[in-house]
Amino acid sequence: MEKNIKIVETELGKYISRLEGPDVIKSAMDYSLQAGGKRIRPILLLATIAAFQEEIEKGLAAACSLEMVHTYSLIHDDLPAMDNDDLRRGKPTNHKVYGEAMAILAGDGLLTYSFQVITEDTRLTNEQKVQLVSLLAKMSGPEGMVGGQVADMEGENRKLTLQDLEYIHLNKTGKLLTYSVLAGAIIGGASRSQLEQFDIFARNLGIAFQIRDDILDIEGDQAKMGKPIGSDVTNHKSTYPSLLNMQGAKDKLMAHIQHAKTALNNIEVNTHLLEQMTDLIAVRDN
Ligand code: IPE
Ligand code: IPE
Ligand code: MG
Ligand code: MG
Ligand code: MG
Repeated sequence: MEKNIKIVETELGKYISRLEGPDVIKSAMDYSLQAGGKRIRPILLLATIAAFQEEIEKGLAAACSLEMVHTYSLIHDDLPAMDNDDLRRGKPTNHKVYGEAMAILAGDGLLTYSFQVITEDTRLTNEQKVQLVSLLAKMSGPEGMVGGQVADMEGENRKLTLQDLEYIHLNKTGKLLTYSVLAGAIIGGASRSQLEQFDIFARNLGIAFQIRDDILDIEGDQAKMGKPIGSDVTNHKSTYPSLLNMQGAKDKLMAHIQHAKTALNNIEVNTHLLEQMTDLIAVRDN
């Protein structure tokens, strides 16, 4: 994982440096992109490719574009009009450094550049590019991450049902994690039935990932997390711990981890690394 993180981070730097555009937008995009973060999505994508014994180099454009979309979502998520947070990945948030207008544009730039990165790649086939662009748009747009963020914002100051909250988690976080796995499976050459199992695996992993995020927003360590603790309470968000209490949230987290692992066991490729990553996500502390 560490080796792949380094490869992805080097590639991300190259993608930004070769951009022809105003220095300030390149600098604002680079600031959040290079700030660190766990890189869980690109690593999941590359681990899924590796499960098919394919070369991970084929997935580098997809992995970097995915991290760009994720980073854009964080820049916008932190804006005063949204969660209004001042710290991200251990550094002041993008709008604190570049101002709100440039932070919005840095997000826009990362989102749109991500599609350019996929379509200009020389290692993917044209068919793979169309599949990836189409799936990334679906998973990150109104039918995915953006839809989930809308429901999250509209849910502030209201008591949501568990069903409402599951929709939010599945979409605002789960869909991009699902894309990570499905993109890797597409590049790895998965069959239709394998894609179906990967989809079940990733949906459950995605919901579990956000439940853990909710838990860490209460009992996490700000220094380890690199982002403020208590943001959800301040913003009157419904979360798994607020609806089910802390133990209920932890039980639900483990149930989704178990479903994810069961789906993984049904796939006839080498999913050992993905299984280890699933266990790690259940107990992560950052
Ligand atoms: C944070 O994602 C936002 C959520 C979807 C919970 P990560 O926890 O993956 O953040 P980074 O990329 O490591 O900073
Ligand atoms: C955000 O969820 C998910 C995104 C799509 C960015 P949160 O608002 O809980 O993420 P953090 O806790 O700020 O990273
Ligand atoms: Mg948010
Ligand atoms: Mg937030
Ligand atoms: Mg959170």
